[in-house]
Amino acid sequence: MNGYIDNAVNQFRTLLTEQIERQQRMENADATTDYTKLPKIVIGICKGDGIGPIISAESDRLLRFLLEDEIESGRVELKIIEGLTIENRIAKNKAIPDDVLNEIKSCNVILKAPTTTLKGGTLESANVAMRRELDLYANVRPVCVPSENIDWTFFRENTEGEYVLGSKGVEIPNTLAFDFKVTTNAGTRRIARAAFEFAKNNGKKNVAIVTKANIMKKTDGKFSEICHEVAKEYPDINVEEWYIDIMTANLVNPAIRNQFEVFLMPNLYGDIITDEAAQIQGGVGTAGSANIGDKYAMFEPIHGSAPRMIEQGIGEYANPTSMFKATEMMLNHIGFKKQAELLNRALKICTETEKKVVVTGEKDKATCKEFADYLLETVKTL
Ligand code: IPM
Ligand code: MG
Repeated sequence: MNGYIDNAVNQFRTLLTEQIERQQRMENADATTDYTKLPKIVIGICKGDGIGPIISAESDRLLRFLLEDEIESGRVELKIIEGLTIENRIAKNKAIPDDVLNEIKSCNVILKAPTTTLKGGTLESANVAMRRELDLYANVRPVCVPSENIDWTFFRENTEGEYVLGSKGVEIPNTLAFDFKVTTNAGTRRIARAAFEFAKNNGKKNVAIVTKANIMKKTDGKFSEICHEVAKEYPDINVEEWYIDIMTANLVNPAIRNQFEVFLMPNLYGDIITDEAAQIQGGVGTAGSANIGDKYAMFEPIHGSAPRMIEQGIGEYANPTSMFKATEMMLNHIGFKKQAELLNRALKICTETEKKVVVTGEKDKATCKEFADYLLETVKTL
């Protein structure tokens, strides 16, 4: 037993040192990329696995149509990035194999299809690795239900909390397992600032900080404290603090849920509650997610690779809407507002008002490709 304890203590010392260094690096933030000033924007498309290649093929097709002129003139390059598959990742025993990571870093922005995340073991999630490697600290997830006047934007801290050491816990066989959760001052300050800036610039009056600071006293305690500190710089915005358990209840309470606007929370709570929110919007297949850093940004569906759909042989029926939403968010972020607006209008027509072709992930409804054809036809009429 003493051997295990000594190893664990040594491991903790290393982790602590690394995390202190990470916090220090964050204090010296990168300059923010202004996409409108780049002479050329390279968009990397990662096909992922499971339903990833199926839904990303449709986004690829859509982008080639929407950005036809820009691709033609050389202002935009679409780069397909191969190799972010579970097979290749296992073979190389790397969350993101080095050559794939180099390709990713040679782009300015990434559109990423889902990648499989294994349960247990030590192979880290590709999402988590990419968020860390590109320092994509703000996970922004909008959820709208116009008929109920719901317009939510979730700001999930994306590089620390429960995730940063999620593959580096300690285990003493047949005895116990220990994981670590890390909250840093700099890491919290930057996500809090992103949320309040968004609120200020988008006419939002309310920001809800969501924690479990009554239980996770150190980490969530710090998150709460720093968020309130940042909030003082935004006196016109109303700040509330809620615990995550009651907030999950609030989201299914039709009497109050449309009063919330912007949510600000640590990583794991944000992961969980955004799936709940997406379900309220119509399912996780309908929601896109932006992962924003100072230098890079990555856009993806909020859901996983749905290996169950592949096992059941119904991958072709996957809903590509989440991938299209991610595409819309990306176009907006990199300055192609007109194209984003077109896609937004077409998506509204196809999923809310007209709904001539419906895709649900089940065999009795349309396939991914049929829905994408419908969307593309609709875009062309606008
Ligand atoms: C998400 C996903 C990922 C996460 C998984 C696939 C690692 O659920 O983006 O919400 O937990 O962050
Ligand atoms: Mg999730």
